[in-house]
Amino acid sequence: MKTMVVLGMLAALCTPLSYAETRGEQLYETYCSQCHGLNGAGGGINVPDMAVQPRDHTDTAEMSARTDEELAKAIREGGKAVNKSVLMPAWDSNLSDRQIDDLVVYLRHLCCEQ
Ligand code: HEC
Repeated sequence: MKTMVVLGMLAALCTPLSYAETRGEQLYETYCSQCHGLNGAGGGINVPDMAVQPRDHTDTAEMSARTDEELAKAIREGGKAVNKSVLMPAWDSNLSDRQIDDLVVYLRHLCCEQ
């Protein structure tokens, strides 16, 4: 019985990722982590050479100030489209709308659900 309670508490602590979040996480590791870092907090391998730091996607306050549409637009059309740095590339020729939606779901998980 005690084991069940402990297992239940563990399950509550580490909520499994949804399918969309899992797909988003894989895309993020492939396309985004070199700048935004593997855990989304910035500090990717490219950062020492960058004049503008990539957004810390775990920053709840900043990320909560963006709508899903704004995040999708930044990913699709690049930083310039949302008045951010041109160092944030546009992904519309590499990623489908569905992949971009999955990335937005994953960004929400990173910033606001842990
Ligand atoms: C070449 C480096 C680089 C890569 C690769 C990159 N980003 Fe960025 N990204 C940036 C920089 C730099 C900024 C911040 C610009 C600023 O604050 O002006 C940024 C900003 C953003 C923003 C806007 C945040 C805000 O403040 O509104 C989003 C969303 C974002 N990136 C998502 C992604 C996603 C998703 C990927 C992968 C598909 C990705 N980025 C890949 C460099 C990068």
